[in-house]
Amino acid sequence: MKTIYLDNNATSRVAPEVVDAMLPFLGEYYGNPSSMHSFGGQVSVHLKEARGRIAWLLGADAEEIVFTSCGTESDNTAILSALAVRTGRRRIVTSRVEHPAVKALCERLDKQGYKVVEIPVDNMGNLDMDEYRKSLTPDTAVVSLMWANNETGVMFPVEEAASMARERGILFHTDAVQAVGKVPIDMKANAIDMLSLSGHKLHAPKGVGVLYVRRGTEFSPFLIGGHQERGRRGGTENTAGIIALGKACELAAANIEAENSRVRRLRDSLESRLLAAIPNSRVNGNTSMRLPNTTNISFEFVEGEGILLLLDEFGICASSGSACTSGSLQPSQVLRAMGVPFTMAHGSIRFSLSIYNTEEEIDFVVEKLPPIIERLRALSPYWKDERICTTAGNAG
Ligand SMILES: Cc1ncc(COP(=O)(O)O)c(C=O)c1O
Repeated sequence: MKTIYLDNNATSRVAPEVVDAMLPFLGEYYGNPSSMHSFGGQVSVHLKEARGRIAWLLGADAEEIVFTSCGTESDNTAILSALAVRTGRRRIVTSRVEHPAVKALCERLDKQGYKVVEIPVDNMGNLDMDEYRKSLTPDTAVVSLMWANNETGVMFPVEEAASMARERGILFHTDAVQAVGKVPIDMKANAIDMLSLSGHKLHAPKGVGVLYVRRGTEFSPFLIGGHQERGRRGGTENTAGIIALGKACELAAANIEAENSRVRRLRDSLESRLLAAIPNSRVNGNTSMRLPNTTNISFEFVEGEGILLLLDEFGICASSGSACTSGSLQPSQVLRAMGVPFTMAHGSIRFSLSIYNTEEEIDFVVEKLPPIIERLRALSPYWKDERICTTAGNAG
C-alpha cells in the first residue's frame, strides 16, 4: 500500500539529495573536525560550507549559527541563556500555545520561582497584542514566542513583537521550528535575538538543530564542555547531520516559492473540498496568517483518533489534535486556548503537506475521508441528537 504522508509538521522525509550529501560523512569522512590532522580538517571545511548555507537561508551571518541536537535543545538553550545573562530579572513572557519544548520548560521554571506570563490567543489563534504590550515590564528577562504554530499553522507577528521587546531592553527568542523553509526569514531585517530551527522538519534527518544567536547578544551555553561552536555548545559536532542540514537549507531556499504556490494550492484544495463534502466541519485558526502547508480541520461529533485509525487503513498519515493524558482523551491545549468547543476540538485533524505531495494524493484523501466521517458519526449518539435538533430546527 502506498503511504500518503500528510504529517510533515511531525517530521518530514529526508530529501534524497540530503541523503546523498550526508552519506560520505557516515562512511569515508569520519574524522573529527577539531583534529589537527588534515583527515579531520577536511571535514571542518564541509561544516563551514553547511554553516554558510544555513545562514544564507536565514539572512544571517555564519558565526550567528550554533548547531544543536534538535529544536527542543535550541529552545531550552535560548531561554536558559537569557535568564543567565539577565540576572535579577525574573519574568518570562510566552504564549498559551507554545510547543512543549518551551511550555514545559517554562512550567518548570515557574516552579523554581520565575514568573511566567502566558499571553492568551483569540479564537482564531491570534496573539493578544494588547496583553503582550502590557506584559513587557522592566523585570522581564526574555520573551519566547513561536513564529508558527505546529498544530494550526497560525503565525504570530514575531517581528513586530521583537521590536517591542528590544525597545524595552528585553531579549527576544522565537521558536521558528515550523516556519523555517516555509516562510521567508531575513534576520538582518528584524530585531529577533535568538531563533530555533530543527532539521527534521525541513527534510534533513532527526538529531540536528540550530540556535541562531544574533551577533553581540550576551549568551550563556547550555551544554558546557569542549570549545566547539566557539564555546557556545560543547560536544563533538554531528558532522553528517550538519552537512545534511546545510543541503536541506539550500533545497529549502530553492523550494520556498513552491511551498507558497504549489503546496499552498494543494492544501487549499484539500481544505475546501473536505469542508464542502463534510457537514459540521470547520477550519481552526486564522486562515490568512497561516503556514502554506498546514490545515487543522474539526469534524464535529467524532473522535480524532477514530478518524486517524480509519485513514491509516488507506495508508493516509495525519495527526489528531488530541493527546491521551492519564487515560482520558483531552483535546489539545492549543485548541482549548483558542476556545474551540469541546465537540469540535475532539474531532480535529491536522494535515501538513510538503513539496513531495501530489494532486492524486489529495484526490484520494478527499475520496476516502467523507465516508469515514459518515461511518463514525453513524455510531455517535451526539451526532444523532444533533441531527434530530437540526431537523427539528429546520422544520420549525
Ligand atoms: C514548534 C515546535 N517547536 C519545537 C519542536 C521540537 O523540535 P525537535 O523535535 O527537533 O526537538 C517542534 C517539534 O514538533 C515544534 O513543532
